Amino acid sequence: MEVIVTSRPQELGRLGADAVAAALRVRERPAIGVATGSSPQPVYAELGRRVAAGELSFAAANVFMLDEYVGLPPGDPRRYRSEIDRDVVARLDVDPARVHGPDGSAADLPAECAAYERAIADAGGIDVQLLGIGSDGHIAFNEPGSSLASRTRIKTLTAQTRADNARFFDDDPEAVPRHCLTQGVGTIMEARHLVLVATGRGKAEAVHHLVEGAISALWPATILQMHPHVTVLLDDAAASRLQLGSYVREAWAAKPAWQGL
Ligand code: GLP
Repeated sequence: MEVIVTSRPQELGRLGADAVAAALRVRERPAIGVATGSSPQPVYAELGRRVAAGELSFAAANVFMLDEYVGLPPGDPRRYRSEIDRDVVARLDVDPARVHGPDGSAADLPAECAAYERAIADAGGIDVQLLGIGSDGHIAFNEPGSSLASRTRIKTLTAQTRADNARFFDDDPEAVPRHCLTQGVGTIMEARHLVLVATGRGKAEAVHHLVEGAISALWPATILQMHPHVTVLLDDAAASRLQLGSYVREAWAAKPAWQGL
């Protein structure tokens, strides 16, 4: 796990975009995993800049979402698919027909989850997966207590997550759907490169567990310690509880340029 701390949001965006750009070069039809939320926004902004400058193209890529609310009708602006349409499809040259996500309004949710797992496998797996982290240590919507081997399935959101996400629902936690479909922890762990972005003091405890805690379903993100290729991009506030803070800064400053991410 490589942990990079920077006080410049543009640098988080640049590094995240470098990882996605590297994945775009790997295969003829690469698969890029995208995340919703505020954390990956600097990455999308930088990718948008590079696409506009003609440096990068998503035209051949498949794009896979992490999760979706259950029960919001198609076209609802609060759906994660709508968010990805605004943040990713509108800014990058992604083919909307190649954006895949679990449909939280499907009549048969278990069948929908199984079909989503097949779609990822049929695309040859995900080359790079962008991730945020919940203040309770969730990744995608894998809440505390999630099986660390789980696959795409229905989950119940915690009160903490519904409170955190109430800002998109007129500040009313009760209006946040109770259920979601989410890639499982085991599904996420199969992506070839995981890039997790976290900013702000509200994430500091979760980031401490992610990097330094015991691996436990209580903090699902801790399983990333078992993945062979993880990049964690942090601002100073999110890194403020790291015991290894000085070491990871020294390691990054001394990193040989040829190594890449
Ligand atoms: C939601 C999403 C996660 C995301 C998290 C953090 O719960 N399901 O995928 O990582 O929020 O969001 P933010 O980056 O806005 O803090």
